[in-house]
Amino acid sequence: MRAAYEPFLQEVLIDEATLQARVRQLGAQISADYANMGDLLLICILKGGVIFLSDLTRHITLPHEIDFMAFKSYHKGDRKSSRVVRIERDLEIDLENKHVLIVEDIIDSGLTLEFVFKLLQARKPASIKLCTLLNKASRREVDIPIHYVGFEIEDKFVFGYGLDLDEKFRNMPFIGVAKS
Ligand code: IMP
Ligand code: MG
Repeated sequence: MRAAYEPFLQEVLIDEATLQARVRQLGAQISADYANMGDLLLICILKGGVIFLSDLTRHITLPHEIDFMAFKSYHKGDRKSSRVVRIERDLEIDLENKHVLIVEDIIDSGLTLEFVFKLLQARKPASIKLCTLLNKASRREVDIPIHYVGFEIEDKFVFGYGLDLDEKFRNMPFIGVAKS
């Protein structure tokens, strides 16, 4: 039987085994970096980060908490950089004394993450770092510090493993390039 995503898929960019191996590595690296550091909190940016988070959290050997945030962004005027980002769902956990690790699916312009960073910084966590599965560096409009990157990718529209194609196929177990 043909998979439902097949008509929309141009090619597989990162296969399931490669993804799983890299997420395992990231989990090991994060576990080593945060050992003896105090309270670790992973903050997943919904919805795209949810599959990555659910695999990553199981490869982190330290005790840690997870929480979720959601944002909406829209364009104000016609300049791309005049985009406005708004909170759709806020955290339940207080950030005081927490070492925060933001878990994101992909960084494109960086405008969403710039907003998230400033917002969370103002809540005075013990530290704040960023972990993204995918990085489209060529699309960056603002400078943001990224501490953990799964894969650097080219400027192509991708989906699967949490990333959607018109809200669908987040469950595809690999990262694919969408047909244009
Ligand atoms: P930024 O604020 O431009 O960095 O936007 C990042 C957000 O745009 C990501 O969290 C994704 O939700 C979405 N996005 C950017 N590129 C892609 C893509 O290739 N596929 C699916 N979603 C994408
Ligand atoms: Mg996202």
